[in-house]
Amino acid sequence: MIMIMTVDLGHVLLVHGKKLQDLYKVPFFPEIIFCKMIKALGVLVLCVKISLTLAYRPVFIYHGILTGADSMKHLVKRIETIHPDTVVYNFERFGGWSSLENAWHQVLEAQTNLKAVCDLHPEEGINMIGYSQGGLLGRAVLQTYPDHCVKTFISLSSPQAGQFGDDFLHLIFPSLVAKTAYQLFYTYVGQHTSVGNYWNDPNHQDLFEEYSIFLPYINNHIISTNSSQFRDTLLRLDRLVLIGGPDDGVITPWESSHFSFYNESFAVVPLQESLIYIEDLIGLKTLEENGRLDIIERKNVHHYEWHRRDDIIDSVILPYLD
Ligand SMILES: *[C@@H]1O[C@H](CO)[C@@H](O)[C@H](O)[C@H]1NC(C)=O
Ligand SMILES: *[C@@H]1O[C@H](CO)[C@@H](O)[C@H](O)[C@H]1NC(C)=O
Repeated sequence: MIMIMTVDLGHVLLVHGKKLQDLYKVPFFPEIIFCKMIKALGVLVLCVKISLTLAYRPVFIYHGILTGADSMKHLVKRIETIHPDTVVYNFERFGGWSSLENAWHQVLEAQTNLKAVCDLHPEEGINMIGYSQGGLLGRAVLQTYPDHCVKTFISLSSPQAGQFGDDFLHLIFPSLVAKTAYQLFYTYVGQHTSVGNYWNDPNHQDLFEEYSIFLPYINNHIISTNSSQFRDTLLRLDRLVLIGGPDDGVITPWESSHFSFYNESFAVVPLQESLIYIEDLIGLKTLEENGRLDIIERKNVHHYEWHRRDDIIDSVILPYLD
């Protein structure tokens, strides 16, 4: 919560036990007049101007795959209703089919928009919500933007550790099956699409490392010249909030929303036992040790409900928007 002090305490100043405004029988003194009148009375002048306005930080929202800004309108309205006067920037680019374009391309383009927003709010900073693919790409936007202004980043059911499963795949590529999708995704051509960029096949980790140009890098699974920047930028956050749940139905495994993933025997490895956490590859361990990582699990929430159900928005999103 940002406090901008602006409430004029002048009219409650007490003079000999009486409120000044009672003394002069006028309801309100503008500050200047108020000070002059006290001076004229020869009273010890204590011109106090304490102003108190509560303002919420602006919010930047990054939509999911195959949809666009329109799909996030309910969330925008809810924020504006419960937190009046919040400035909400609802990212409009890469909606529909263009959300399937190469992840790096989307990330670097979205970054120009985030920069423009940060330039408008250099002092207070902003909060950011990324839904589904938008939470993964939005996170990468921060990681490639060394002096970003984001304070709290909320990842709303996003495949942060990648994606592997038929349900999700069939939404976009009905004729592909997860088991063999690697044959397309782990190729030069397959890397032209965002889904290929974060496809994480437990059976073909060697090809994942060889061909994937995005996920292994931003997760510092492969160390590159940018690795320390990818970690430092996340550590700039005041808070990282990871939201997901077992009834999501699209993110597979759903624990990917919490940076957990399958190992080679398709068991989901808990975050605290995962390499990304143990070796603190992108700062998750540090954030948690400093009390700046919030991992939230909600049952009975389908993937398409996280940003559309008021009870969810009110209980797991709004409390983080300060
Ligand atoms: C990685 O770092 C180099 C400079 O060392 C920079 O030119 C390049 O844009 C960076 N790439 C990303 C994706 O941040
Ligand atoms: C996968 O994880 C499970 C549970 O943590 C573990 O029992 C199993 O040995 C692991 N398999 C491999 C191949 O690492």
